[in-house]
Amino acid sequence: MQSCIKPPRMNGTVEMNIDGKSLEFPTIVGSEGEVGIDIGTLRAKTGAITIDPAYGNTGSCKSAITFIDGEKGILRYRGYDIADLAAKSTFVETSYLLIYGHLPNQTELKNFSTLLTGNQMLHEGMRYNFEGFPTTAHPMAILSAMINAASSYHPNLCCEVNRKQCFPNHAARLISQVRTIAAFSYRKAHGLPTVYPKSSLCYTENFLHMMFSAPNEDTVLKPEVVRALDLIFILHADHEQNCSTSTVRTVASSQANLFASCSAGVCALWGPLHGGANQAVLEMLEEIHQEGDDGTKFLNAVKNKTGNRKLMGFGHRVYKNFDPRAVIIKEQCDKVLAQLHVSDPLLDIAKKLEEIALNDDYFISRKLYPNVDFYSGIIMRAIGIPMDMFTVMFAIGRMPGWIANYKEVMDDTDARIVRPRQIYTGENLRSYTPMADRA
Ligand SMILES: CC(C)(COP(=O)(O)OP(=O)(O)OC[C@H]1O[C@@H](n2cnc3c(N)ncnc32)[C@H](O)[C@@H]1OP(=O)(O)O)[C@@H](O)C(=O)NCCC(=O)NCCS
Repeated sequence: MQSCIKPPRMNGTVEMNIDGKSLEFPTIVGSEGEVGIDIGTLRAKTGAITIDPAYGNTGSCKSAITFIDGEKGILRYRGYDIADLAAKSTFVETSYLLIYGHLPNQTELKNFSTLLTGNQMLHEGMRYNFEGFPTTAHPMAILSAMINAASSYHPNLCCEVNRKQCFPNHAARLISQVRTIAAFSYRKAHGLPTVYPKSSLCYTENFLHMMFSAPNEDTVLKPEVVRALDLIFILHADHEQNCSTSTVRTVASSQANLFASCSAGVCALWGPLHGGANQAVLEMLEEIHQEGDDGTKFLNAVKNKTGNRKLMGFGHRVYKNFDPRAVIIKEQCDKVLAQLHVSDPLLDIAKKLEEIALNDDYFISRKLYPNVDFYSGIIMRAIGIPMDMFTVMFAIGRMPGWIANYKEVMDDTDARIVRPRQIYTGENLRSYTPMADRA
């Protein structure tokens, strides 16, 4: 089969020449001018499919939530620039914006906050679910399992009519409870008594309270720490069709409930190439430190591809010049470390790695720059978040983005179950060999 594609025409179509036959496909142009070729009829017309492993060239949906221009380093939620939101918004307000599409007015924000507060307690029965995990359990395993378990306490999640009517309640419940589950997982994993949320505290304060207070003594909440964590949540709140969000949309396409879909998102986020990168950055820095290296030896190994090492926290599938979140968080990182008077040898190594990599041809030629995870791990360490909770912080932040994407799938009247095809490369038909005749 021979093919050629001519560039999009003014009338919104492209011409594809396949085996000498000219075919026309419509183009879709996004609100920022991105062009997609709609090949929805390709297989019916030609018998062929497209193949794009890892989906680097494939748009899986139309979405009005987040816009990214990886070349220009642009990230916008519902049209608002991430730097503007980082400077002026809060995580709760940003969550509302992502899910409902507009900045809330005072009444909407108050109602949303009231819903969050009203849903912060877990069903008491879930205490027994927590008991079942060994102390060695990774908090991401607990988080994913417990989000799914929470759905069993709300049977109306599974009925289609209720799923839509009760969406605002379920969305608020999930955003609120993911923070409670996360804090309880930490307390469980460290053998500490659970601390219940307090209605007088704001979202991020409450999380820090449940993590670090004792039943008989409240932790002192430092405003700079609360602000830094709230900012981390905002910066992670959505990121277009990444691995975990695509997972949530895929699961949602089968009409699975909100909690089940987002629990799958947690699993997808866990891996070191995605949300697990912030933990992997700190593990890498610790390893370099323990070996008495200042980063130079490690970087040489990365460049020589010895031991399949990567400079964790560098590179991005979409951002090829800079990650706008990394620029914001780097500034915050310097501020927090100065405010808390933190001096950390791992930070010195991180700075050295950054300095060398940004001037090294290996990284420059491959367009590898620090991503948000390079700095978020350092801030979280400085404010006392344990390393195995880093990816959990990412999951708390990403929850509104997953929920917004779930809602988009649910509201799409043309949505169909996600079902990619494949090119089969296995054996052709062969007959069954009886055991006695097998080599
Ligand atoms: C994010 C990431 C998965 C993107 O992967 P990708 O778009 O598929 O990029 P590729 O794997 O095709 O990489 C292209 C080249 O850069 C190299 N490369 C990519 N990231 C690298 C890194 N962090 N350190 C060293 N080399 C890296 C690859 O080895 C490849 O080199 P080659 O051309 O010699 O084969 C990848 O950059 C990575 O693993 N980074 C570290 C993990 C991380 O920080 N993840 C968080 C993302 S927010």
